[in-house]
Amino acid sequence: MTDWDKIRKDFPVTKNKTYFLSAAMSPIPIPVFNAILQEYRTLHELGELNFPKDMERFKKLCGDIAELMNTNADNITFVQNTSTAMSLLALSFKNQIKPPFNIISMQDEFPSSTVGFEYLGIKMRYAQPLNARYPIASILDMIDNHTLAVITSQVQYATGFQQNLIALGKELRSRDILFFVNSTQAFPFYPIDVQAAHIDVLTASLHKWGLTGHIGTMFFTTPEFRELFPTPCAGWLSINTKGKSFIHTGKNIPFHLHSTAHCYDSGTFNLQAVLAFQTALDYINQIGITIIQNRIIELTDYLIAGLRKLNITIISPVSESEERSAIVSFTLGNNNKEFIDACAQQHILLSPRDGNIRVSVNIFNNFADIDKLLRCLTPD
Ligand SMILES: Cc1ncc(COP(=O)(O)O)c(C=O)c1O
Repeated sequence: MTDWDKIRKDFPVTKNKTYFLSAAMSPIPIPVFNAILQEYRTLHELGELNFPKDMERFKKLCGDIAELMNTNADNITFVQNTSTAMSLLALSFKNQIKPPFNIISMQDEFPSSTVGFEYLGIKMRYAQPLNARYPIASILDMIDNHTLAVITSQVQYATGFQQNLIALGKELRSRDILFFVNSTQAFPFYPIDVQAAHIDVLTASLHKWGLTGHIGTMFFTTPEFRELFPTPCAGWLSINTKGKSFIHTGKNIPFHLHSTAHCYDSGTFNLQAVLAFQTALDYINQIGITIIQNRIIELTDYLIAGLRKLNITIISPVSESEERSAIVSFTLGNNNKEFIDACAQQHILLSPRDGNIRVSVNIFNNFADIDKLLRCLTPD
């Protein structure tokens, strides 16, 4: 039996707040906080002596992430955020493909998935939601002869709708359409088998469900994708020196980039904080991903039942458990802002998203947290 009370104690935020903002940013648990301190303590006491070893640890971390997604370490790296990752992809398209071409995405996407493409003038076409869902048939209906790729979030940030990536990916592969996924609101609580889903590129910013703060975005690409669309940017860490030297110092001398995802590394990055994600991943794996998913279903079931009892309109599509996530949104009509503000006064923290009220539950939340929220919704 999982000791959820013990896990709750790892999140001191629970002493002060009833925290339903993890889909914005999760607080970090004590073991991860200690790991971050330890990384900086080592830097403080030893300087950069550990850099080569740390890069090896980074590769191991990429391997552990890869294992969760049924791929290998060579296909994983980190970039600064999902917006950067998508902008790199947009630049690749600009460099490699002559218009006309278009990309299909979802109307409700968080802008990180789409701004980089729109900014470069790439034609974007948006599928419209149907009761906050995106039926696969409605996405496929939008494909035309010029469609190059489909970009979707695994879990929509405002509604929590979880797409069936395996079914969508199969359809896209059979039509030769590239498949890009933003798993920021899902990973690592809902890891996806990238091979089964025929995913070409996946990003997941980790300050939400990665429990490690702003450490950037995990970035998956397939070898085939990297070959077809070489990285549009490079830096010294992108170069494969083939063991000759650590740093490519030559000027006007031809060089080769890594054929692995490390072609995207460009230069140094926030390695100390990123390495602490290993502790977060071990912590999550120790609890167990299926156990976490079941806990989230239990907590959100309880919330949904409470909202229904109070006749409150639920915005999230919640009838199919596979389409659920850690996010449940509801509305009180014109009173949403007032209610969020009133709850904040009582240290119950909720997000306004897309005109509605977003609740996100995490492994530290409990039934008493949800009772507190439901009590605020209950008329006197
Ligand atoms: C679905 C989704 N993608 C990405 C982000 C963050 O994007 P970025 O990493 O570009 O800051 C968020 C929220 O902050 C999000 O909800």
